[in-house]
Amino acid sequence: MNPKSISLSVLLPVLVVTGHVLAAAGRVEQLDNYQQQGVEQTDTARGRQLWFATDGERSCTSCHGETPTVAGKHAKTGKVIEPMAPSVNPGRFQSTKKIEKWFLRNCKWTFGRECSAQEKADILTWLASQ
Ligand code: HEC
Repeated sequence: MNPKSISLSVLLPVLVVTGHVLAAAGRVEQLDNYQQQGVEQTDTARGRQLWFATDGERSCTSCHGETPTVAGKHAKTGKVIEPMAPSVNPGRFQSTKKIEKWFLRNCKWTFGRECSAQEKADILTWLASQ
């Protein structure tokens, strides 16, 4: 092989632009509140399972979409719902009041019941990992 092309390929750095979003996923402080309510451990897989759980008609993804890093669309109003993943939407899960209000409303609409602290903690842990 031509020695010149070898040295060039070694010397020329390849700049890969990955497009990674640098915003750190951060801690979700609300998880501390669930811990105070007795939640000892969270289960990411269980959180994911709940997120996709469906009675054949309704699930969390009905409005939030299949992919937490992508915006969803409200099943009834058609309004855009910003992504749930803090990695792309750092404004997520910042207010206990907001989190609890929507968990209450959305668990009732989706599952026909409230979610337990354990379930909420599992779901938040999964979403925060996205
Ligand atoms: C009928 C539509 C709909 C369904 C179904 C739905 N959500 Fe939501 N959810 C919303 C809307 C609207 C908001 C408020 C707008 C926003 O935060 O972008 C929201 C907000 C939230 C928030 C607050 C986010 C924050 O930043 O604090 C959480 C948590 C949440 N939803 C969880 C769930 C879970 C868990 C399910 C399934 C059990 C679910 N949602 C199903 C419409 C829905």
